[in-house]
Formats: sequence, structure tokens, C-alpha cells
Amino acid sequence: MKTEHTVTNRYANAAKAPESALCCPVDYDRKYLEAIPQEVIEKDYGCGDPSKYVRPGETVLDLGSGTGKICFIASQVVGPEGRVIGVDMTSEMLEVARRNAPVVAKTIGFANVEFRKGRIQDLALDLEVLDGELKRRPITDAASFLAADELAEELRITRPLVASDSIDVVVSNCVLNLVDPQTKPQLFREIFRVLKKGGRAVISDIVADEPVPEHLQSDPELWSGCISGALTEEAFFHAFAEAGFYGIEILKLDAQPWRSVEGIEFRSVTVQAFKGKQGPCFERKQAVIYRGPFKEVLDDDGHRMERGVRYAVCDKTYHLYKKSPYAQFFEFIDPREAVAMGFAKPFDCSRTARRHPKETKGQDYHDTTQARDQCCDGGSCC
Ligand SMILES: C[S@@+](CC[C@H](N)C(=O)[O-])C[C@H]1O[C@@H](n2cnc3c(N)ncnc32)[C@H](O)[C@@H]1O
Repeated sequence: MKTEHTVTNRYANAAKAPESALCCPVDYDRKYLEAIPQEVIEKDYGCGDPSKYVRPGETVLDLGSGTGKICFIASQVVGPEGRVIGVDMTSEMLEVARRNAPVVAKTIGFANVEFRKGRIQDLALDLEVLDGELKRRPITDAASFLAADELAEELRITRPLVASDSIDVVVSNCVLNLVDPQTKPQLFREIFRVLKKGGRAVISDIVADEPVPEHLQSDPELWSGCISGALTEEAFFHAFAEAGFYGIEILKLDAQPWRSVEGIEFRSVTVQAFKGKQGPCFERKQAVIYRGPFKEVLDDDGHRMERGVRYAVCDKTYHLYKKSPYAQFFEFIDPREAVAMGFAKPFDCSRTARRHPKETKGQDYHDTTQARDQCCDGGSCC
């Protein structure tokens, strides 16, 4: 099956007239829908609402933006200080989104959304720029075909559709399942590439509770209908971890399946994943204690920590844990005397080591303190 061709054809038609088989009921925040033209809302083919997790001022990239609904909601959430980029490969979808962008901008009072043409598994290649170049140098034989390939490679570097490390949050609504299985790993790597360090992906998609057999995967109707390209829940998580993400978690998983086919249940999930655990590790004598309630946890770098035990962590891990999604699970212990970054030695992050309290307090720490007076003045501490 020619996956991409099948998908483009189906969504080119769905951009012209609403297709009810592609609609999955989603509870969007109604106040943001008021500014969005009916034509866009009618051609809603999403299965979740990743825009709920976007914050003011952020730069957002929406993969497979369709007629633009998620972009137009995110545009209002990020406000005039933020910006939103929608990417889609189907010209008919882009036409509807681009035509409605000025209408939304007029209603909300600012314009911060743009739509670009590209394949989400190849976010470096701007298909409209390539199109323009190929009009000047059309492919007529094998030599010009090879030259076009070289040109595409050059454009990825010199005029990327989405630059590396440029996006705060990548969102997507019901699109990743449509990407060809061979290029799915590349798709996750591309999401990782375009995110800034510390950025995150918030992806709504359809997942399957069992592997989808070959004969369903080669059904064009089921594939383009966001069914048979779905990864299992486990494979979906694995794909993020393989691409280098950390802190991957389910934000929402529908209890009810959207559809069942041959006993396999397909339901909507929204997952969040972070970029930024890569980098050098330095010893600054910090310690953390996992608060529970589980007996132990294992993080994305392989640190296994038991509840209630003081562990040595590198400066990078210490600061990652202090932020979402980890902060609520740890207690943080700074050393009595801070180790300046310039004096910090490399830290071996490949092992998990306990941190003796003397390491944080200092080896010659021998203070003896008295009970504090205020404890015995009728207060509640004794
Ligand atoms: C199910 S619709 C979802 C549209 C939109 N996210 C929404 O919430 O209504 C899938 C969209 O993704 C686009 N699409 C599918 N595969 C794509 C790919 N590999 N690269 C870029 N766009 C893609 C389609 O053209 C279509 O607009």
C-alpha cells in the first residue's frame, strides 16, 4: 500500500467536505472555539486536545495541522508574545487553514500563526521551497532526479522548514498513526531535533491495545482512517524513549475505545515527553530522596531509587528532578557548602550511589545544638 498517497488523497477530500468517519468526539474549551470559523470546526479530525497543555508566550509547532483548529486554539493560549507553526503535507488542508488565519487574527486582535508545507517525518524539508526550485529545474531524466535529491539535501541544511532547537512545545492531534511504519522512528527523532533543550512534546493520538495484524495494516481505508497505523500503547512509549525523550507520561487515556476492529480496541491517548537529559554530569554533592509511594522507581537514565534513601545525583539530574514532571516525587538536599560549577568534578551517572549525609554536611561537621527555646513555650513542636 502506498501509505502517503492514500493519506493525502483522503485528507484532500476531507478538506473539501467534512468526513464524519474521521471525527472522534473531543471536548475542546468552548471559549477558544468562538473565534474559529465554522468551516474549520466542521473539518475537525482530531482525537484529543494537546492545546490544553500549552502556556502563554511559548513557540508551538503543530504536526499535521489540518484545517488549523489546534493552531487557532494554541494561538489564543500563547497570546501575542507566543507563536504557532502548523505543518501539513496536504495542499487542500493548508489552503483552508491559510484562508482562515486572517479571520481568526482579526477576531482575537493579533496574528501569530503560520502554516508550512512539509512531511512531519522530515521537518527539515520545505516542500514549497523545493517545489519552486523544481519548477526552474524540472526532473526529466535520471540525472535530474539525482540532482533533485541533492538539492533537497542542500535545502534541508540551508533553508530548513523547522530549525533545530527552536520549539518550546510540539503538539499533534491524531496524525502520528498516519505515518508510514518505516519512517516512524525518524518522525520521533525529528520531533526531538526541533525542540529546544527543556522543551516538550504533547501528542494526542490513537493507540491500539494489541498489535495490529498485517492484513489490517494493508487496508487503505483503515489506515487513512487513523485506525490500523496505530502503535500499541507500549510501542508508543518506546518510540519516545528511543528518540531520547525522558519523563514520558500519559496525560489522558480514554477508557472507552473510539473503535474496535476484530476485537482490537483503538482509543485516544495524550502523552507528554521532555527533551533535555543529554549533556555532561558534574558532582556538586547534591542528594535526593524519593518520597514514595512506590517501593522504588527507575528513571530514564537507569537510576533505580528506593523510597526514603538518600542518593547522590549529578547537577544535571538534580535540576531535572526539581522541575515537572518529577519535582513532586523528591526531597532535595543541597550541600552545606556549595560546590562552584568551575570546581565541580565529572560525575559517573551510569551508576546509582547512595549519598552519605557527611558528604553533604562536610566530613568535619560536628555541631551539637540545643533544643530551641520556642519549642517549650507552649508551642506544638514537643
Ligand atoms: C486526522 S487529520 C488531523 C488534522 C488536525 N490535526 C485536527 O486535529 O483536525 C490528519 C492530518 O495530518 C496530515 N498528515 C498526515 N500524514 C502527514 C505527514 N506524514 N506529514 C504531514 N502531514 C500529514 C493530513 O494531511 C491531515 O491534515
